[in-house]
Amino acid sequence: MRIGDIDIGPGALLAPMEAVTDLPFRTLCEEHGAALTYTEFLSAEALTRGVAKATARLWASLGGRRFAVQVFGREPEVVADAASMAVDIGACLVDINMGCPARRVTAGLCGAALMREPDLAARIVSAVRAALPSGVPVTVKQRAGWDDRSPNAAEFARKMVEAGAALVTVHGRTRDQGFSGSVRLAPIAEVRALLPRHVPVVGNGDVKTVADYLAMKRATGCDAVMIGRAARGNPWLFRDVLAVERGQPAPRPPTVAERRAVWRRHADLVAEYAAPKMLLHELRKTLAWYSHGLFGGAFLRRRSFAEPDPDAVLALGEAYFARLSEREARCGADLGEPAAAPRAKWLDKHARRRSVRQGGTETCEG
Ligand SMILES: Cc1cc2nc3c(=O)[nH]c(=O)nc-3n(C[C@H](O)[C@H](O)[C@H](O)COP(=O)(O)O)c2cc1C
Repeated sequence: MRIGDIDIGPGALLAPMEAVTDLPFRTLCEEHGAALTYTEFLSAEALTRGVAKATARLWASLGGRRFAVQVFGREPEVVADAASMAVDIGACLVDINMGCPARRVTAGLCGAALMREPDLAARIVSAVRAALPSGVPVTVKQRAGWDDRSPNAAEFARKMVEAGAALVTVHGRTRDQGFSGSVRLAPIAEVRALLPRHVPVVGNGDVKTVADYLAMKRATGCDAVMIGRAARGNPWLFRDVLAVERGQPAPRPPTVAERRAVWRRHADLVAEYAAPKMLLHELRKTLAWYSHGLFGGAFLRRRSFAEPDPDAVLALGEAYFARLSEREARCGADLGEPAAAPRAKWLDKHARRRSVRQGGTETCEG
């Protein structure tokens, strides 16, 4: 796929996700074959005012790999200035968020709210286009529309392209849908059908497996697919997509030793890059992700909330994978968790809430 002058290799893109697509996680996904990764959305207003919470998240990928920065805002000049900051740190493209459904974002008439103001959205795109060097594309991530009464995905995308967008990503839900129900593929197909062939369209929503990936491509004709939630703790999904794109046989699922090694690499990157006050929370998060659905995972997550410091969480993770490895030797590759008892689920939910109260973040899920 080409975006302007940039050749993006085969494979899926990692979706921008608040409090998820930080440098450690992006690195893991890149190392497993993600064609491009995005930062979480960053407030243009906060970036240009130099607010540390925003500027500290403007991370270039390691090893000189290409990466994209996503920004949100509604003042064209402010968004353009923030986009220039992203290019200054090496972003290969700047994406503008026009899909976040979170009330705190749409209340400020940003994110998905821009789909109700196509003229302003177009002015934002052209201001960013004018501010960036010609080789750095501006792209847009939008939804199927604001609600079912205004399904304007294709018209909106066309307007963004006329204003200078070089690629459009479509999450096939309306703002009203949030994350409920299943994703609709028709709006993505409509955008693909309406835009000129040289402008790539990226499909997004509910891709959890290689089969979902292929179905999304087949049903919409999209040029690439962006994967979000299913990549958490599962960067191997990018490897599997890449294999299918290259016509190679499907790789076998990761062994426990491979899971442990990737978890540990992720945890070590977190230890290197996380803000000290977030470290404990972020390490617990890695354990929750990489043990999700695996035998003993729910118990491990509850235990991790009781551990008082980062070293103890790391030791807990090592002990967990060592036990899982013994189980693998005994029982083979069946590593799945038996169905959780209702009380265990309840404990899990409350442990997570406690973690948020103790300094973890709630996310926009935009
Ligand atoms: C925790 C979380 C945070 C998100 N943050 C952003 C964001 O910063 N910018 C954005 O465009 N979309 C954001 N999204 C939406 C995703 O990029 C993606 O569109 C959505 O999750 C659907 O794709 P999926 O089904 O593959 O997860 C977020 C989603 C989640 C779950």
